[in-house]
Amino acid sequence: MSREFGARRATIVVLPGDGIGPEVTMAATQVLQAVAARFGHTFELITHLIGGAAIDATGSALPEASAAACQSADAVLLGAVGGPKWSDPKASVRPEQGLLALRKVLGVYANLRPVKPHAATLERAPIKANILRDVDMVVVRELTGGSYFGKKERHADRAIDICEYSVLEIERVARYAFRLARSRRGRVTSVDKANVLETSRLWREVVTRIHRDEFSDVALEHQLVDSMAMHLISRPRDYDVVVTENLFGDILTDEAAMLAGSMGLLPSAALGDGTLGLYEPIHGSAPDIAGKGIANPIGAILSAAMLLRHSLGLSDEAAAVEAAVSQVLDAGVFTADLGGTHSTQQATEAVLKHLSAAPQAVARKDERFPAIDLRD
Ligand code: NAD
Ligand code: IPM
Ligand code: MN
Repeated sequence: MSREFGARRATIVVLPGDGIGPEVTMAATQVLQAVAARFGHTFELITHLIGGAAIDATGSALPEASAAACQSADAVLLGAVGGPKWSDPKASVRPEQGLLALRKVLGVYANLRPVKPHAATLERAPIKANILRDVDMVVVRELTGGSYFGKKERHADRAIDICEYSVLEIERVARYAFRLARSRRGRVTSVDKANVLETSRLWREVVTRIHRDEFSDVALEHQLVDSMAMHLISRPRDYDVVVTENLFGDILTDEAAMLAGSMGLLPSAALGDGTLGLYEPIHGSAPDIAGKGIANPIGAILSAAMLLRHSLGLSDEAAAVEAAVSQVLDAGVFTADLGGTHSTQQATEAVLKHLSAAPQAVARKDERFPAIDLRD
């Protein structure tokens, strides 16, 4: 990535994947190209295979060419992988393996999943608006450890998934969460199951030590994951930064999507020690609506905004995208998941229209997730 007079040249690998993946990444890439045109940058977008589409074409869920392109890119934007076509439990290769391998290869261990309901969707969420008002949290999900990556065994009469965490894996994601909290409201909730799981007891011990030794200015509380599932819905406003292990973070963030009003709204950024990041909406390939042109593109578009901010250092541009999304929702442009009638393309065009009118320097108050240096 070169920087000259504020203009950026960046290489972004796009992995559309399966189901609604190609539909929502098309929206996000249109937004990235509009940002480049409006702000004078040059983004080279290179499309590669992943997931079921890659299995069909090459037999592998993450072909070597895709992995190599991602490793040498400035950032990676992914749609979603998986679907019924590749879900045979006896299949030797699954689309999801490609995504997990990519996360591991890129070393993106901290997955930031911001949850900040838009004013316009409060009445459209399945939860009462008075509970949702002023909710603003970021879940930091550990992304390259735990039962997802432990040893797996399958026998005729039993199966095993090992859940393993090292001190180092917990330390680095905990630091991420504490640094993030310092730039926000200064509160971290660490979620575990320390009353039952040994990995959770280690998790709690390490998070407590990192807090005591390095971040005692931040407030820390520990919460068991089962009651967290309840409090997330009953008093979501109380949370600032929530840090948790891989599987708990996966489950809690789908639940948290209901605070925002739809699975289609939540973006995510998967980050490691450098600036290279993997950006994807938190939702899946949604086989039930794939091919109909009605998927909500906003989670993917907001993921592109996170890409601009965290991998390319383009905060004004990220804020412009986020402001355009807010204006579109304020104007009553909703896809079917939010009870509206707009198609994916209509919603995307509405965002593009607001973006083309965006001032080139955007007031930072519009930033949904301000720039901070999260790395060492
Ligand atoms: P899902 O997230 O695909 O869908 C859950 C529900 O939310 C569905 O009713 C779907 O229609 C709806 N939904 C999701 N995204 C939406 C959007 N943008 N707009 C409107 N509605 C949306 O979860 P699932 O059905 O359990 O999983 C389907 C497949 O996706 C599985 O193969 C799973 O492994 C995969 N998956 C992939 C990812 C990823 O690639 N990051 C994430 C989750 C699930
Ligand atoms: C997600 C997805 C993935 C996960 C699957 C598809 C491997 O659910 O990104 O939330 O469990 O991490
Ligand atoms: Mn998930």
